[in-house]
Amino acid sequence: MNTRIPSGDRTVSRREMIGAAGLGLLALPSVMTSEAIAGPPNEPEERIIKTTDRNLGEMQSFVDDCIAANKESDPQAAVQEVLARGVSDPAKMLKAVGDPTEAGLKVFHRSKTLTIFAASWTPQMNLMPHNHLMWAAIGIYTGREDNILWQRSEGGLEAKDVRCLFAGDVATLKPNAIHSVTNPLERFTGGVHIYGGDFFATERSQWDPESLVEEPSNGAVIRAIFERANERMRRSRGH
Ligand SMILES: [Fe+2]
Repeated sequence: MNTRIPSGDRTVSRREMIGAAGLGLLALPSVMTSEAIAGPPNEPEERIIKTTDRNLGEMQSFVDDCIAANKESDPQAAVQEVLARGVSDPAKMLKAVGDPTEAGLKVFHRSKTLTIFAASWTPQMNLMPHNHLMWAAIGIYTGREDNILWQRSEGGLEAKDVRCLFAGDVATLKPNAIHSVTNPLERFTGGVHIYGGDFFATERSQWDPESLVEEPSNGAVIRAIFERANERMRRSRGH
């Protein structure tokens, strides 16, 4: 049972704290499909779900609930509630999204005020520290996603917190949050990621995982990261 504990700007699982030893074990690689990176045109409240896709069609009411929640006075809290409900039955969400087979994103909705996609992480995949410049909510429906929270420091960045998200857990991030992500498992991890803005149209930053030097981040950079993760997975499987 995951009892969620309100903690400042976020809701966390009791299992979130893996401790300093966990921090030392995390390395950093990662992923995204070309379709996801290119993304759909930036039109208001664009619906990405194809109704001809039986599985994705099951996401329709969830997306509708998120769009409605995003219009409330505290959009992040309202969307977080919808997301927590959505992943409270992880198997149902997994069935609706579909089994992950490669690193990438399935985009369900994109507008100027809201982006919703499912992100799949290959086994033991890592994503370097990055920001979003908009609020975020992450709900895991399969596997596990470990987050390191960073803050800016004189040397670039320093780690300040860690959250381990298991299936059914939801975490939120403030607009100025910086995090890196690891799938510690030898199987796929999948989560629904929701952002309070157009995730694909926003120029952001990422930080080199070793030097922690800040670099610009954009679709092309992220696409290359996802492609490398898929390439690693194929190599490890002897393909
Ligand atoms: Fe992120």
